[in-house]
Amino acid sequence: MKKKVTAATLVSAKQANSPLVWLTAYDAGAARIAEEAGVDVILVGDSLGMVNLGFDSTLPVTLEHMILHTSSVVRGCNTPWVVCDLPFGSYQQSKKQAFETSVSVLQQTGCDAVKIEGGAHMTETIQFLSDRGIAVVGHIGMTPQSTKKYGNFKQRGANDTERETIFHDAIAINKAGAVALVLEHIPADLSAEITTNISIPTVGIGAGPSCDAQVLVWHDLLGLSEKSPPFAKAYINLRAQAVNAISQWASDVRDTTFPGEHQ
Ligand code: KIV
Repeated sequence: MKKKVTAATLVSAKQANSPLVWLTAYDAGAARIAEEAGVDVILVGDSLGMVNLGFDSTLPVTLEHMILHTSSVVRGCNTPWVVCDLPFGSYQQSKKQAFETSVSVLQQTGCDAVKIEGGAHMTETIQFLSDRGIAVVGHIGMTPQSTKKYGNFKQRGANDTERETIFHDAIAINKAGAVALVLEHIPADLSAEITTNISIPTVGIGAGPSCDAQVLVWHDLLGLSEKSPPFAKAYINLRAQAVNAISQWASDVRDTTFPGEHQ
């Protein structure tokens, strides 16, 4: 039987060169399916806001949303390591704010780690949390909570200056004590360079094949999204299948063939 994944599992997987599988999920039912499929880490991403709550960015997601959905995921699974995204505005103000938010998340959900977006400017906060025993996952490259500043969801690290900044951010986050680092939508050769130069596992999303782990958003993997990022791969078109099934049932209701005489 599979053992509970821990922060130590992440490190040994990197040392063994054995890629771990991360997937987002937002509720207990999805978490159960992910665990049954052998997913190692469930990320309750603040992508929740866009794929589930109908917002056009992750900015309106609140701490209450994240706590509600993360506790649901924790109730739905046993072995995956569960990571909760700290939402926009709940950690950037100060180390103290980030600590208080992390304590609320860990105590109220039972999850294993928190994830925060941002590079070198977040390293003091990461160090502060890590020194107090909190497992922190960093997230650099295309960081959805800053898309209003950039005005787009495009790849980061395409020019030399951005590339150098992202590389140095990764080194600093590793040094500050993060346990893993998400690299989103950056060139594959940059994530390969980062992966060989830091001791913590890199988790790629649109960052090429060299990362220590890969993560995808639930809706993109299952073909439920109306619009997916260019790097996502749908392994099934569940949206079309769901529309088809519901239309068939609606038609049966309308022509009275459902529920039928004896049901
Ligand atoms: O919110 C999210 O789902 C994420 C992943 C895209 C890494 O941060």
